[in-house]
Formats: sequence, structure tokens, C-alpha cells
Amino acid sequence: IDFGVRVNVWQPLLRACTFRIVWYLSGRLFELDPTLLTLFHYTTSCGSTQDCLASPEFLDHVTKVMLVIDAAVSNLDDLLSLEDFLLNLGRKHQAVGVHTQSFALVGESLLYMLQCSLGPAYTAPLRQAWLNMYSVVVAAMSRGWAE
Ligand code: HEM
Repeated sequence: IDFGVRVNVWQPLLRACTFRIVWYLSGRLFELDPTLLTLFHYTTSCGSTQDCLASPEFLDHVTKVMLVIDAAVSNLDDLLSLEDFLLNLGRKHQAVGVHTQSFALVGESLLYMLQCSLGPAYTAPLRQAWLNMYSVVVAAMSRGWAE
């Protein structure tokens, strides 16, 4: 797969706008499917979606997602080296009741966040490079389901 160098906008973006990433990514995800919120077992009660988004458990998970994406970007030339980790991560998600189809919504939210953050720098080849990378990650996670 030719990811190109375009995915490398990631590291500066990650450093520059963590707050923005959390906001767009999570806001968009629960706009796409509010029922996903129930999969996070909050210790604090959530009066509204906004309350949930601000809860520490949820912010923690966004950071976890970002660390996985960061690992994938850092290992673009050798994504196979993440295979065991991702397979295991898939198993953990199956155990907490996540469906593989929901990963597509996370991907959509990720692209939405990039689009909002990059403005005109968000081009068709950039979008494609991200889709390629994210598809490899999700495919590896989804293999955790079959066994
Ligand atoms: C853990 C939900 C997608 C990365 C978890 C947990 C839940 C969860 C309930 C356990 C509690 C916690 O650690 O916060 C979901 C839902 C998803 C989703 C509902 C999508 C609809 C993803 C994606 C990634 C990811 C796409 C990475 C690309 C992680 C990591 C952990 C985790 C790294 C910690 C696993 C560990 O403890 O070893 N997720 N997740 N999640 N999730 Fe997700």
C-alpha cells in the first residue's frame, strides 16, 4: 500500500491541537451513533452527551485511540509489527460489546477531525492515505473477532 508522506501531517497536528482532536473526534462519533456512549461504563453519571464527552473515562479512551493511531503512523512502513497488539485490542473490544461495524464511525470521525483541522490542506490524496492506514488498523483489530 502506498501511504505516501502525507500521513506525516499527523505528528505536528497531534502536538498542536490535542484539545481540538478530542472535541471533534468524540463529538462527531456520538453524533453519528449516540448509543456508543452506553458502551463506556461511566462511574460518574451523565446528564447529557456533553457531560459524557467531558468525563475522565471518556477522555482517557480518546487518548488511547490517539496513541494507537500515533503508533500506526510511526510504523507505516511496517504495520505488520503491530499485528499482535491490534488483534488483542480487537479481542478486548469484542469483550466489552463493541461491534466491528462501529469502527467505521470512528474512521469517519477521524477524517472529519482532520478536515476541520487542516482546512484547504485536506486534499483527496491525503484523505485516501488516511483511509488506507485506518483500514489496515481496523482490519487487524477485526481479526480478533473471528477466533
Ligand atoms: C479500551 C470502547 C474504538 C483503542 C476500550 C474500552 C471500551 C472501549 C469500553 C474499555 C474501557 C477503557 O479502557 O476505556 C470503544 C468503542 C469504540 C472503540 C465503543 C468504537 C466504536 C477504538 C479504536 C481504538 C481503540 C478504533 C484504536 C484505534 C482502545 C484502547 C483501549 C480501549 C487502546 C485500552 C485497551 C487495554 O486496556 O488494553 N474501548 N473503543 N478503541 N480502546 Fe476502544
